[in-house]
Amino acid sequence: MKKRIAILISGRGSNMMALIEAARAPGYPADIALVVSNRPHAPGLERARAAGLEALAIDHKDFATREAFDDAVDAALREEGIDLICQAGFMRIQSAAFATRWLGRQINIHPSLLPSFKGLHPQQQALDAGVRIAGCTVHYVTPELDAGPIIAQAAVPVLPGDTAATLADRILTAEHKLYPLALRLVASGEAALDGGRVLLQGGVNQPDCLMSPSPSADW
Ligand code: GRF
Repeated sequence: MKKRIAILISGRGSNMMALIEAARAPGYPADIALVVSNRPHAPGLERARAAGLEALAIDHKDFATREAFDDAVDAALREEGIDLICQAGFMRIQSAAFATRWLGRQINIHPSLLPSFKGLHPQQQALDAGVRIAGCTVHYVTPELDAGPIIAQAAVPVLPGDTAATLADRILTAEHKLYPLALRLVASGEAALDGGRVLLQGGVNQPDCLMSPSPSADW
């Protein structure tokens, strides 16, 4: 049985599209059943509809409290029989009650190698810290922002002359590969929560190392 997925967005939805495209493969263990945006004019809503999906705007400004907005999202998810939530550029902090209710059934992608550079502008944070390797992380959502158990990570080099924008582009390309992989692992049960960490089962491909800068043949 394929898992029924809801994707929560606030913006352009490029990660959402990567998930939608991956889920078209017959063997993929998840179906994208619903897209929800808290911003009615998010470009991702139209992209989802153009891909033939149900896409709802639930405007957080229509609700007096964070909890009331979260309850409306929760009701929409229950109505669709959603098994698993993917946050993809969803720019709302959730109430602890919502995050707890969906604990183990909600994942997020963040454009840093967590636990470094949580919160806003992680690419600029990485540049400011002077790291040579940056990247992205898919993790379970817990009430604490960007702090949930890590499912999968992808690394990219930070290049001389990078700006936050050029680094964000390079990380985004990696995000589009990582998120479909991570969702496959979670939806198939190959990744499972074990206390505060994620256990991976089976033969997951592993690369050798990424070095930045990288040595040439003669050092
Ligand atoms: C991505 O970089 C994601 O990691 C972050 O917000 C951005 C969303 O981009 N949380 P998109 O809407 O998926 O194109």
